[in-house]
Amino acid sequence: MSKNVLITGANKSIGFETARQLGELGYRVWLGARDAGRGETAVATLRKLGHDARLIEISVENDSSVQAAAERVGQEDGKLDALVNNAGIPGAFIDPADQTVDDIRQVYEINVFGPIRVIQAFLPLLKASGAANVVNVSSELGSLGSLTDPGSEFYGVNSLGYNSSKTALNAVTVSFSKALASSGIRVNSADPGYTKTDFNGNTGYKTVEQAAKVIVQLVNATEGETGSFMNDQRRLPW
Ligand SMILES: NC(=O)c1ccc[n+]([C@@H]2O[C@H](COP(=O)([O-])OP(=O)(O)OC[C@H]3O[C@@H](n4cnc5c(N)ncnc54)[C@H](OP(=O)(O)O)[C@@H]3O)[C@@H](O)[C@H]2O)c1
Repeated sequence: MSKNVLITGANKSIGFETARQLGELGYRVWLGARDAGRGETAVATLRKLGHDARLIEISVENDSSVQAAAERVGQEDGKLDALVNNAGIPGAFIDPADQTVDDIRQVYEINVFGPIRVIQAFLPLLKASGAANVVNVSSELGSLGSLTDPGSEFYGVNSLGYNSSKTALNAVTVSFSKALASSGIRVNSADPGYTKTDFNGNTGYKTVEQAAKVIVQLVNATEGETGSFMNDQRRLPW
């Protein structure tokens, strides 16, 4: 069987483009969507392009949804070669003094606990691959190095919930990269860059094609690093 990959939040935007590019490389794509209708439309588009795409319903904040997804991939493929934790939400981009704990908690539920939940549920299948790649889709807004550098373009973007959720996600990457290295599983963080999608009201300056590049590279790596934080140009500071 060809290599397979599961991408969360893949019915549109960066996740969908990542699915398209990996389909083009010959991967069997498990296209993750929390809404079956939106997911089916996306799968139909990939199939028309000739890709091996299957819809998998997965809401990353929901234990039983994630568990059911893992059981289905296990029954049909028996392994998972790559996992892209792409689903994410911004929460409110407002003064830190005004962002409610409830809003921040929801951001963490999707951006931090979601990837942890999905990695844990799919661990037996990732181990069965023998050489799996996990890519956590992070953001330079999670880089404490960039956020404290007055020369960084992101220095002034001070969203308490979102930024700290991606810093936490990077810590999740480091932790799992160490824990899973002996199982042949690499875990890295990817920053797609500021990309024109619904996420930011289509204000980003990168295209989804450019944004998916670093994710696809890390998914498709057959050797190399684990526990790194990359964009398409360079290694980013934590
Ligand atoms: N765009 C940027 O400039 C940028 C920059 C750096 C990092 N990122 C990161 O890149 C990733 C993708 O961003 P994007 O710009 O493509 O965002 P997007 O256009 O808002 O798409 C987000 C995707 O995540 C899904 N999703 C949201 N909540 C979910 C949940 N609870 N369970 C499962 N799926 C869920 C959405 O599904 P629905 O369609 O059903 O809502 C959608 O498919 C995110 O992790 C984001 O933080 C984006």
